[in-house]
Amino acid sequence: MTTGALTDEALLALPKAELHLHIEGTLEPELAFELAARNGVDMPYATVEELSAQYDFDDLQSFLDLYYATMAVLLTRGDFAELTRRYLRRAHAQGVRHVELFFDPQAHTARGVAFDDVVDGIGDALDEAERDFGMSGALILCFLRDQPVASADEALTAGLARMDRIIGVGLDSAEVGYPPSLFESVYARARAAGLHSVAHAGEEGPPAYVWEALDLLHVERIDHGIRSIEDAELVARLAEERIPLTVCPLSNVRLQATPDLRDHPLLRLDAAGVAVTVNSDDPAYFGGYAGQNFTAVRDALGLTEEQARRLARTSIEGSFASPERKRALLAELEGWRP
Ligand code: ADE
Ligand code: ZN
Repeated sequence: MTTGALTDEALLALPKAELHLHIEGTLEPELAFELAARNGVDMPYATVEELSAQYDFDDLQSFLDLYYATMAVLLTRGDFAELTRRYLRRAHAQGVRHVELFFDPQAHTARGVAFDDVVDGIGDALDEAERDFGMSGALILCFLRDQPVASADEALTAGLARMDRIIGVGLDSAEVGYPPSLFESVYARARAAGLHSVAHAGEEGPPAYVWEALDLLHVERIDHGIRSIEDAELVARLAEERIPLTVCPLSNVRLQATPDLRDHPLLRLDAAGVAVTVNSDDPAYFGGYAGQNFTAVRDALGLTEEQARRLARTSIEGSFASPERKRALLAELEGWRP
């Protein structure tokens, strides 16, 4: 047992699973320019500094506009492998031992990139990380909720042929005005095929979207879910059913969902018995990877050893890793000494 604040080193070393990470959101400006030059793609900004200066967001949509524009530099299997390789190295250095990463296939196939090049590129890097530093990982295919349901259906059809790599489906992009109920049939098909399911809900959207994700999509985890705090009955249900929330504190600050981290509901949800976890969402855009989200929470909200350990334990238990893998990760966590 330590007294005093947990150090940066301790929180970066804390063995954890990352359950809310958009691989396209790990595209750092430096790599974006490298790939643009290699692929002959025009960048709307002249320098890394000019691009980085755009990372001042008013809301989710203002971020998404830049996110979709910048990912235009990702064209080949090798590009997706390099992107993922760089993320995995950084994540590993911040204690991430297992990652279930989101990808947005519709944003790539719409540009003429082959679905399999995306999956295989990411998969190549996951294989290397497993071999080189014992990290485990898998893919979750996200549907863009602001695109037609027929397009999600097509993405699912492509995904069902790649269940060697893809373990689940998710729902992301602009939330308000695109309720989970729109995707009920797509999720039913995914679940019938044996895929896990999660959905973004309650990031900017109301608690009603979290209810829909649970009752209509039958998801196993909620991504973000922070607005659940506004609905006591929902909080009680999440706690009772041990539905994990994959919370992303720095993202919520940068996208103005919780402009001041000191007001963040993470630890209030934890105190209410909700299975909260800490994740990085789009770390290249929001100022920090997984470990840095933990240190930011410590600085703004305070974090005891017991709370840090519980957040990490919940991330492992709430993952879709095999029972053996979970046991190994939990044993590693037991050995963590801050
Ligand atoms: N796509 C990438 N990041 C996202 C987020 N935070 N919310 C919704 N869609 C996203
Ligand atoms: Zn997200």
